[in-house]
Amino acid sequence: MSFPPSASGAMKAVRGKLHFPVIMVCAIAFISLLYAERTSIILSSNPFFKIKSCSKPEAITKNKNRNATEDKLRDSILDDRDNLRDSILDDRFAFNPEECSVENGEWVFNRSIKPLYSDRSCPYLDRQVSCVKNGRPDSGYRYWQWQIEDCTLPRFDPEVTLKKLRGKRLLFVGDSLQRGQWQSLVCMVESIIPENQKSIQRGRSHTVFRAKEYNATIEFYWAPFLVESNSDEHIIGNPRERILKVDSVAKHAKYWTGVDILAFNTYVWWMSGYTIKSYWGSFPNGEEGYEELDAPVAYRMALKTWANWVDLNINPNKTRVFFTTMSPTHMRSADWENPDGMKCFNETKPYMKKGFWGTGSDKRVMRVVSEVIRKMKVPVSVLNVTQMSNHRVDAHTKVYTETGGNLLTDEQKADVLHNSDCIHWCLPGVPDAWNQIFMAHL
Ligand SMILES: *[C@@H]1O[C@H](CO)[C@@H](O)[C@H](O)[C@H]1NC(C)=O
Ligand SMILES: *[C@@H]1O[C@H](CO)[C@@H](O)[C@H](O)[C@H]1NC(C)=O
Ligand SMILES: *[C@@H]1O[C@H](CO)[C@@H](O)[C@H](O)[C@H]1NC(C)=O
Ligand SMILES: *[C@@H]1O[C@H](CO)[C@@H](O)[C@H](O)[C@H]1NC(C)=O
Ligand SMILES: *[C@@H]1O[C@H](CO)[C@@H](O)[C@H](O)[C@H]1NC(C)=O
Ligand SMILES: *[C@@H]1O[C@H](CO)[C@@H](O)[C@H](O)[C@H]1NC(C)=O
Repeated sequence: MSFPPSASGAMKAVRGKLHFPVIMVCAIAFISLLYAERTSIILSSNPFFKIKSCSKPEAITKNKNRNATEDKLRDSILDDRDNLRDSILDDRFAFNPEECSVENGEWVFNRSIKPLYSDRSCPYLDRQVSCVKNGRPDSGYRYWQWQIEDCTLPRFDPEVTLKKLRGKRLLFVGDSLQRGQWQSLVCMVESIIPENQKSIQRGRSHTVFRAKEYNATIEFYWAPFLVESNSDEHIIGNPRERILKVDSVAKHAKYWTGVDILAFNTYVWWMSGYTIKSYWGSFPNGEEGYEELDAPVAYRMALKTWANWVDLNINPNKTRVFFTTMSPTHMRSADWENPDGMKCFNETKPYMKKGFWGTGSDKRVMRVVSEVIRKMKVPVSVLNVTQMSNHRVDAHTKVYTETGGNLLTDEQKADVLHNSDCIHWCLPGVPDAWNQIFMAHL
């Protein structure tokens, strides 16, 4: 079950003999991940945010310059005085997306972190990501904080978040990983909303969570490739039978208008290890006229289609656009110096090596994202979660998940090598940190 060493090699090898587990996991992952919705949020109107995060970029304090005494002082103030923190400390430790790179940092263990929700408390979590409910025995993976080098990320505050979203629609668009991020955000805010002030409306592709008091929605829309494919609503398990219309996005994009905050992603569906059957234009032979393109080539065409739609249809004065970079997969334990590991199954701690980048994050795809976004007219804020998530070999759903709508049986669970899902993340978990960063951008 070994993958070849280089990232680009990984795809080829998968095509050759290694695709079985990948396809399997993908099938597990994909079949169950179907529902999407869209959400829109609001941006810049909240004075809270602006004043705090942007007022004094020059005052950003480097973590490394602080000593233990200061840390302690700060912790105690944070603990006792949440409000004070807002008025006094945020200026000093301000996170400014323009100046702070979220990519450089480290995961710090903190046993006193209290996740804002659990898979028992939050009614909006899918069983697929409810790892504790599904029997995951270890809990350490929930107590890590991403600490960036140059700045301090503001803690996630549900009330501040809802205020930022007041009167707005926030829509997540993409695949099951994006859906996880959507669920994470909903669960992080929902506990402070009284029962009769919140609702959820689930559709096949589009799901809307509403916070009535705030007149805000957090929505998800399912479009795993962003562009149209024959595997959108009715998922086709076999990647070889999927055909993408790489120049068409309208069918999905009609759901993306009138939204205040749009957050897109697309990655893992391109990584089946096979070439992507792609067609474009309108020819009499229709879908039969597809060409088989290498994933990064087809990905570039699709992302440009998306970018053109954004540039033509989004008024940047009204709508903010975000793109979440690829969520790493952890199929090859040799990547993190555990050649005897079983994919991610045996991992209970992050792999800390600085700058670690596994074969489950295709650099060619990342380059396409950078290049396409750089040329866009509408500014797109990149939520670059790839580096931070690369370390989290411990945080996937593994066998504590479901397949085809059913929890894994004990027998399936025992076959960890084939049945560990090393794509999706347990919730609460890593996507909570993505949202902490996301909300710090608003
Ligand atoms: C740490 O900072 C405090 C307050 O700024 C100062 O009093 C103390 O001497 C510093 N300690 C070290 C070891 O630098
Ligand atoms: C650990 O988490 C607690 C609770 O969120 C927080 O008050 C404290 O500041 C954290 N400690 C460190 C060292 O970040
Ligand atoms: C609620 O938010 C929508 C935008 O999502 C806006 O059009 C509408 O006017 C708002 N309603 C109230 C009562 O503020
Ligand atoms: C956005 O606002 C700026 C400044 O008010 C204005 O110059 C620009 O034309 C607006 N753009 C659009 C697309 O409305
Ligand atoms: C992985 O975990 C299983 C079950 O806990 C254990 O039996 C096995 O020895 C572990 N393997 C490695 C390589 O750590
Ligand atoms: C995301 O961060 C990585 C480094 O961690 C960098 O190589 C990559 O170019 C960044 N991607 C984008 C789209 O900015």
